[in-house]
Amino acid sequence: MPGLLLDTLRGTNGSRRPLWLMRQAGRYLPEYRELRAEKGGFLALVYDPAAAAEITLQPLRRFGFDGAILFSDILIVPYAMGQKLEFLIGEGPRMSPRLVDTALNALTAVPERLDPIYRTVALVHAALAPDQTLLGFAGSPWTIATYMVAGEGSRDQHETRAYAYRDPQALQAIIDAIVAVTVDYLEGQAKAGAEAVQLFDSWAGSLAPAEFERWVIAPNAAIVSQLRARCPDLTVIGFPKGAGEKLPAYARETGVDALGLDETIDPLWAARELPEGLPVQGNLDPLLLLAGSDELERQALRVLDAFRDRPHVFNLGHGIGQFTPIEHVERLVKVVREWER
Ligand code: CP3
Repeated sequence: MPGLLLDTLRGTNGSRRPLWLMRQAGRYLPEYRELRAEKGGFLALVYDPAAAAEITLQPLRRFGFDGAILFSDILIVPYAMGQKLEFLIGEGPRMSPRLVDTALNALTAVPERLDPIYRTVALVHAALAPDQTLLGFAGSPWTIATYMVAGEGSRDQHETRAYAYRDPQALQAIIDAIVAVTVDYLEGQAKAGAEAVQLFDSWAGSLAPAEFERWVIAPNAAIVSQLRARCPDLTVIGFPKGAGEKLPAYARETGVDALGLDETIDPLWAARELPEGLPVQGNLDPLLLLAGSDELERQALRVLDAFRDRPHVFNLGHGIGQFTPIEHVERLVKVVREWER
């Protein structure tokens, strides 16, 4: 029995709405903060499969979500491609050498850095009930490239967008290398027990239309087609955050099974304009979950009602924030659970 979440991602409309939240494991949970302090930091947690599996399961125990998302990070891929990776508290990730001034072939790949992640997936797989879905993930090539080129996050990805115009061949080589590692990595997650995977393209929204075709649609399409050949049963969710009016083209041209929507998308527009029958996921504003007014309930119902006639997985439009009160999450879960088609 695959479970309601997986059935929905594959296109069947169930009686109740499946639910999980991006970044559902993490700093808003006291049990996460406690284990992170004990292990000495975020990367130490990721590289301890027993601890990472425990953290993956924490939000399911507390809230009964329909799916567990692997606890790891999208930047493990550049780390396995040979960049140094650190997470500075309060500042975010730092990577070196930066590809804005160092050639890609100066890196020495360290593929063993992916192995502990597969062990985490296998441990979670063994612990889940058959109707709870195990979701793996990777960053999409453009989003990963923005970190590899700049060596850190940036407000509008300007360094990598300028690099793309200055030296498109060099960026293409970086993107192609990320595609190859990502396909291996997601195949490894599927073999260890992931039933669906999400491709996070968090910075897809900063690209001009032709650039979006080249750096978002084309590499995600390549990943989907190569994964289909290797893992025919694996379900793929594409999440091109900020893609706006480019979403229908993204859905058609990448061939993803399901589409993640961010909070800037009007659910009524999505219900009308996206390819018929395409399963969608989203898209309550995470800041509404943080604020937690009556508006939280109204907007959650608006999302649920808009997707009455389309396979829909309830989620946020982006990751849950670290200052989100747990009572607000409990309230949201209740609203989604009590909704009936
Ligand atoms: O969704 C989940 O619960 C699974 C785990 C997960 C994490 N990061 C854990 C994490 C996933 C799927 C990600 C994806 C990720 N990581 C993205 C794409 C999604 C998005 O949010 O846009 C991006 C861009 C990253 C890169 C990243 N990781 C940044 C910029 C940061 C620092 C900023 C921040 O929020 O702290 C991280 C760290 C990170 N990844 C944390 C967690 C729980 C916080 C680490 C901590 O405990 O201090």
